[in-house]
Amino acid sequence: MQAGCHIYNSAPGDLNLVAELLRAGKLAALPTETVYGLAGDALNVASVKQIFAVKGRPFIDPLIVHVRDLLHAEELAEVNDRARLLAHAFWPGPLTIVLPRKAIVSDWVTASQSTVALRSPSHPVFKKLLELTGLALAAPSANPFGYISPTRAAHVQKILGDRIECIVDGGACHHGVESTIVDLSSDQVCILRPGPIGVDAIAAVLGEPVTPVKRSPRGQTEAQLAPGMLIRHYSPRTPAHLVDTFPEGKGSSSAWVFLKHPSVSELESAILAGAQAFWLSESGDVAEMMQNVYDLLHNLDSGGFSAIFVQRPSARLPGSEALIDRLTRACC
Ligand code: TXA
Ligand code: MG
Repeated sequence: MQAGCHIYNSAPGDLNLVAELLRAGKLAALPTETVYGLAGDALNVASVKQIFAVKGRPFIDPLIVHVRDLLHAEELAEVNDRARLLAHAFWPGPLTIVLPRKAIVSDWVTASQSTVALRSPSHPVFKKLLELTGLALAAPSANPFGYISPTRAAHVQKILGDRIECIVDGGACHHGVESTIVDLSSDQVCILRPGPIGVDAIAAVLGEPVTPVKRSPRGQTEAQLAPGMLIRHYSPRTPAHLVDTFPEGKGSSSAWVFLKHPSVSELESAILAGAQAFWLSESGDVAEMMQNVYDLLHNLDSGGFSAIFVQRPSARLPGSEALIDRLTRACC
């Protein structure tokens, strides 16, 4: 751990210090309602480059810029009527909107694209820092590129603690998976990344059809044509597999992850196979599964298992798009 990595909390004195660091061009790992983000001044090219360097992220993968509200968004992008409708319905919250950018936003943030991704987060710590700094804050998830996103300060400390100066501990993230990304930069409204806000909720607010992320037979999505949407992403280092049935007989020293509390016979099968059983929710609630999924993957990845087998959620499970998306990417 780098001597300088300091854990702040959400007390006003701490947030004032972190705001000063951000205004000085430094980076800070901050809690959001989705996952922890690695934040820096979006209009300061040196800070933006530092974000890419710390994450080991390729420059072709654009960053999300966090803003206070719609008025703030208008400083950075050409806000259209659809964006106004969605921002009124879902901001502050876990929805990222892709819009044509204004000239003030540099190519470094957008990977030279003509669009910028904007989000107004609802987490009180992040909101307060947007207010205190007056800045637009670029913030990708606070993980090394391709690794599991962090949903607790301890995850960030473990995976980036030797590369960053400070983390604000705001507790466990409420949603536990990254925001929904909707592209409003062309005629056709399209979801680029499923997340806590579902396609149906977005279509209902807009009063028009929305193109969901499409999957090809190889499990790829159309959005992977866009920069940054890689198939293997959010992955533990331990080999991980999404399975319909657990591999009895081959489970030795592996972890079996059930979607909900397993039955006695399921537990017995795990024990007989030499595996340890874990579960993503007590009752089968999808929101609870999403809240826990990255935390469990972080713990299992440090647990010395030979492999991680995760039960595949049914596509019929309401609200499971984002969970299936993240598990598919983590387990390939
Ligand atoms: O919940 C979240 O969105 C979290 C928190 C910290 O806000 N952030 C997050 O950022 O997930 P990141 O960098 O891990 O994922 C951002 C993704 C990029 O990989 C890229 O695919 C997409 O957003 N993106 C960013 N700008 C875009 C643009 N102009 N057009 C299309 N996609 C874009
Ligand atoms: Mg990320």
